[in-house]
Amino acid sequence: MQSGGEVPMEWRYTVSEVLIGSNNIAKRISELSAQLYLHYSTLNPLLIVVLKGSFMFAADLSRSLTFPHQLEFITAKSYSGTESTGTVQIQGLENAQLSDRHVIIVEDIVDTGLTLSRLYDTFAGAGAASIKCCSFLEKVTVRRKDSVPIIDYIAFRIPDKFVVGYGLDCDQKLRHLPFVGVFKK
Ligand code: XMP
Ligand code: MG
Repeated sequence: MQSGGEVPMEWRYTVSEVLIGSNNIAKRISELSAQLYLHYSTLNPLLIVVLKGSFMFAADLSRSLTFPHQLEFITAKSYSGTESTGTVQIQGLENAQLSDRHVIIVEDIVDTGLTLSRLYDTFAGAGAASIKCCSFLEKVTVRRKDSVPIIDYIAFRIPDKFVVGYGLDCDQKLRHLPFVGVFKK
C-alpha cells in the first residue's frame, strides 16, 4: 500500500505511521462511487451506516454517490480498547424498514468478520431484498472467522495493525484525524 506521508507534528506521540493519506482516501471514494453506480443506480439502496467508526466514510461516500439512496444509522460494538471482545451488540434497528430493501452495510473496518456476519444474519432475518457490504478498510488477519460474508466493496486493505483516524478510534479518541494512522501503543 502507498504510504500516506509524514505523521503531522501534533500526532507524533500517538501515531507511528500514516497508512493512508486524505488525498488517497478521496480518490478511492470516487472510484467506489462509480463502482456502486453500476449496480445500484436504479435500486434506491438503503445504506446502513455502522456507527461510530464509519461516520466519516459514510458522509464522504454518500456525498459522492450520484444516484438516489437513503441512510439509516446503527451501532455495533465489539471492541474494548484495542481488543475484540468476541460478542457484538447491535442497536438502532427498531425503526428501520428493511423488508424488500437493497441494503448496503457501510463499515469502517472488517477485522475478524464477526460484526459483519452478525449484521448479515440480522438484515436477512428482517427481509432485505439484497445485502452487500462496503467497507472502508479490510484488515488482512489470521484471526478472520470462517464463513464470513464476502466484502463486495473495499476501499483499502491494510496489514494487521491497530489503526486510528478517519472515524476509527482508540477508546473514543483520534476519530477526528483526516488520515488513517497506526496507533502507537
Ligand atoms: P470484527 O472483528 O467484528 O471487527 O470484524 C469489526 C469492528 O472492530 C473494530 N476494529 C477496529 N477499530 N481500529 C479501530 O479503531 C482497528 O484497527 C480496528 N480493528 C477492528 C471496528 O469498530 C470494526 O467495525
Ligand atoms: Mg465498525
